[in-house]
Formats: sequence, structure tokens, C-alpha cells
Amino acid sequence: MAGDRLLIGAAVSSQEFDQPKFASLVADQFGCLTPCNEMKPDFVQRVKGKFTFDRADRIVQFAASHHLQVIGHTLCWHSQTPKWMYEDEGGKPLTREAALANLKTHIYAVMHHFKGKVKGWDVVNEAVNDGPEQILRDTPARRAIGDDFVLKAFQFAHEADPTAELYYNDYNIDLDYKRDRALKLIQQIRDAGLRIDGVGIQGHYMLEKPSLDEIERGLKAFSALGLQVMITELDVDPLPRGKSMIADINATEGAGLNPYKEGLPEEVQTQLADRYGSLFRLFLRYPKISRVTMWGVHDGDSWLNDFPVRGRTNYPMLFDRGLKAKPAFNAVINALAQAKP
Ligand code: G3I
Repeated sequence: MAGDRLLIGAAVSSQEFDQPKFASLVADQFGCLTPCNEMKPDFVQRVKGKFTFDRADRIVQFAASHHLQVIGHTLCWHSQTPKWMYEDEGGKPLTREAALANLKTHIYAVMHHFKGKVKGWDVVNEAVNDGPEQILRDTPARRAIGDDFVLKAFQFAHEADPTAELYYNDYNIDLDYKRDRALKLIQQIRDAGLRIDGVGIQGHYMLEKPSLDEIERGLKAFSALGLQVMITELDVDPLPRGKSMIADINATEGAGLNPYKEGLPEEVQTQLADRYGSLFRLFLRYPKISRVTMWGVHDGDSWLNDFPVRGRTNYPMLFDRGLKAKPAFNAVINALAQAKP
């Protein structure tokens, strides 16, 4: 599937490579891999000082042997991070010095381990606040270190591996309600003289929302920064949603519908394909977009089977549960084929 113009990636988990059919599909269709969970802080350093890289290594080795690139996800995030990193046993913030030391040790160890094997890192993930009151979300890292925790993470990351690309990654930052705060944060990183190579727009979309116009306003604004723009976690959720549009798994809704347990109706399948086609045609009009990564490979391995309602049967990806290409896959191929070089 990999186009000449775009690097096309997928998020994967190491155990999925137990299935030879999955492994050959990934090797054939994608140009880069992002470990979906296995480079996150609670996977690589759940216990302070005890690093476990075996599962992430398996993905990196697979990528190397099939000439695929690897994107590291993620070094600093409020979720899937062990409490000890920023809080004491009573849940109080650590001192700034102690939290900074933990952040630095973590970033140095992880980036040294993967040096030369990872093209770029989501250094900080989802730090921008959803509400308008402040730029940064209230998180354990921010409470312990202060507002410059983002800058410090970028500083440590560049010190740890000056050859790696460094990205800021977040959800909904292309959208009107959140975009300006993300732009301000990126400006702060640049004003501090720190390296940042790109911004990752996650791209967790639904069939009709957000509108292409709104997404395009985001692509324009981030392209104007002159950095790489990447769509880092693309999926399109065809199931009905309640109030929640945010990609925060903690915001799981209590009840909801599971209308397509027996299969996706053909008209919805077509809508999904049309939506993917339009999204890729839009992305391809923006030369600053260097990569599009799908957040999963097939319908069965998507996080959207458990969000915003646990245990639904969802259909957000380009391949079905039997790893067969869906109409959405063909729509993407057509969009890539029609793109100007
Ligand atoms: O590791 C435990 C395992 O020990 C336990 O037995 C099992 C039982 O449920 O849970 C395992 O943890 C799960 C973890 O994935 C690893 O598989 C969590 O329950 C589950 O909630 C977690 O979900 C991940 C989610 O991030 C957490 O926020 C998804 O797989 C992953 O796709 C998702 O990815 C995030 C991006 O990193 C950032 N942007 C949003 C995106 C979607 O939420």
C-alpha cells in the first residue's frame, strides 16, 4: 500500500506476529510500524530501574528484517505510566528534582536502547488540555515538574539521541476547539530553542465528524509551522457515539449500542470507504504530511472494540478480522494512485 509520497504505517502489538498471515500482510502493506503499547512507560519501566524491552524488541527486529521503519510511542504521557515516576506512595507529587531525574533516566535509557533503530519518537503525548482554561492538561508530570515538563522531555530526548526525529503527538489538535493551544505549545518548544521535527495529529475520526473542512483548517495551520505533519493514529469509527469524541480510554461510556454484531451493512461499508478515500485525498493535498499511520491493522485489533463502549464489534480499519482487504482499503489505494508525485 505504501505510496511514493507518503510513508504508510500501522500500530501493532508483538504477539500479533505469532500469526504468519498477519506478519506477511504487515510486511507487504506497510512502510513503518508503531508499537501500540509496548514502548509506553508502564511496559518498558513498570518497576523503577528495571527495564523490559523484549516485546518492543520483537517489533523492532521484525521491522528491521523487512526494511520497515519504526516510530517510538511514547516517552512521556499521563496514561499507561507507572505512578512512581511522578508521585510518591501517598499520591503526592514528587519534588521537581526527583520527577525530572525519573523523566531523564527513562528517556535516556529507552532512547539509548533503540538508538539507530527508531526513526522518530512521540516525545510527549496528549499534554494539551481539552478545555480552554489552560494550555496544558493537569497531569502528574505537570504537578511534579511544572509547566516546563514538556520542554524538559524534548531537551532530554535530543540529548539522548541527537539523530532521532522528535514529535509532539495529540488527539483532536486539528480541531477548532483545541488547535490554538497545541500551536502555542509547539511555539513554546521552538522558542526554547529545542529540536522538534514534527507534529502528530492522531486522527481518530468518525464517519461524518469532524468535517473535512475542520480537519483541513488543522492541516493548514500545522503545515504553516514548517514542521512535518503526521497523521499518527488513523481510524474511522462507524459505530454510533454518545457524547464522547475524545480519544481518552478513561472516558469510557457506561452504556451504548452494538448494532452490527453480525456484520457491517453494505451501505455503512460504502460510507466507510468513501470517508477513507476523502481523508486520504485531503491528506495528499498537503505536502507537509509525511506519514499516515493506521492505529491497528484489522477490525479485530482496534482499540475501538472497547471505546467508548467496552466489548462492541467494531469495523474501523482497512482489513477485516480475516485480514481481507475491505472496500476502504481499495478507496485508499485509489487515492494514493491518483496523487500527484
Ligand atoms: O497490560 C494489561 C494486561 O496486563 C491485562 O491483563 C489486560 C486486561 O484488560 O489489560 C492490559 O492492558 C491493556 C493495554 O491496552 C495493553 O493491552 C488495557 O486494559 C487497555 O486499556 C490498553 O488500551 C490501550 C490504550 O491506548 C490505553 O490508553 C490501547 O491498546 C491502545 O491502542 C491505546 O492507544 C492510544 C494511544 O497510545 C494514544 N492515543 C489514543 C490511543 C487510543 O486510546
